[in-house]
Amino acid sequence: MILYFSGTGNSRHVAKEIASATGDEVEDIATHLRDGSAGAYRSERPYVFVGPVYAGRYPRVMTDFVSRSRFEGSRQAYFIATCAETPWITAKYVKKLAQAKGFETMGFRSIRMPQGYCSNGLTRPAEENEAVLKAAEPKVAEVARLIAEDRRLRDEPLGKSYMSTIMNPLMYATMMSPRKFRVTEACVGCGACASRCPLGNIRMVDGRPVWGDRCTQCCACIGGCPEGAIEYGKKSVGKPRYYLA
Ligand SMILES: Cc1cc2nc3c(=O)[nH]c(=O)nc-3n(C[C@H](O)[C@H](O)[C@H](O)COP(=O)(O)O)c2cc1C
Ligand code: SF4
Ligand code: SF4
Repeated sequence: MILYFSGTGNSRHVAKEIASATGDEVEDIATHLRDGSAGAYRSERPYVFVGPVYAGRYPRVMTDFVSRSRFEGSRQAYFIATCAETPWITAKYVKKLAQAKGFETMGFRSIRMPQGYCSNGLTRPAEENEAVLKAAEPKVAEVARLIAEDRRLRDEPLGKSYMSTIMNPLMYATMMSPRKFRVTEACVGCGACASRCPLGNIRMVDGRPVWGDRCTQCCACIGGCPEGAIEYGKKSVGKPRYYLA
């Protein structure tokens, strides 16, 4: 059973690649995040969790979901994280999560993918993203093969800790608000932003998106808008958009 959280599509892509190698069922946890429900799973094969790195940890919405959900059958789990540069010490937090849920960790692996943090103006030009995606292909294939063969993943060296320990809580305290999202005249009212938001935070009102107050800055809305019609304050203006469909 492969469970993933994804804003801009990187982790979904990796989860699906692993599923095609292992034949495991794959589920987007957004189904539960939208209504706040817990998951209840049974899998005879090891569980595989895939999600992005947000300031040196898995997103809180993802770890909270894993914490409140029930996992029966296999007691083994793999943890895969996509990131733009470095996972910092995500692996350490993953170990704690695994222990709390009674999982034996089969390994943690980070995979460098294109930067999705569009609301913060960090996204890169399309050509750079193409090159990063190409470089990721063999790494994704290797991880998928190892998981399909039930092999343990070798530990990665840990990065510096300050992002995960100090900056992460600061980011949650100061940078998660959806209040700076706005929509421009370019909006055609397609509703893609509303249907993609993994937290169900966007409603369409008179053909325009309106943001509620639950946001994890996943950038599915701003990155995935086909018209580039969403801005986040001034930080996103003139910056490339990224969304892997
Ligand atoms: C709020 C936020 C925080 C992020 N923090 C980090 C980070 O600490 N390290 C890193 O390498 N990438 C970071 N990124 C980039 C994402 O980890 C990366 O783009 C990831 O592949 C996105 O996955 P997704 O497309 O499945 O949502 C961050 C992105 C966002 C939106
Ligand atoms: S995805 Fe873009 S164009 Fe479509 S409704 Fe949302 S803001 Fe408008
Ligand atoms: S409002 Fe946008 S950035 Fe916030 S959780 Fe929804 S899709 Fe992600």
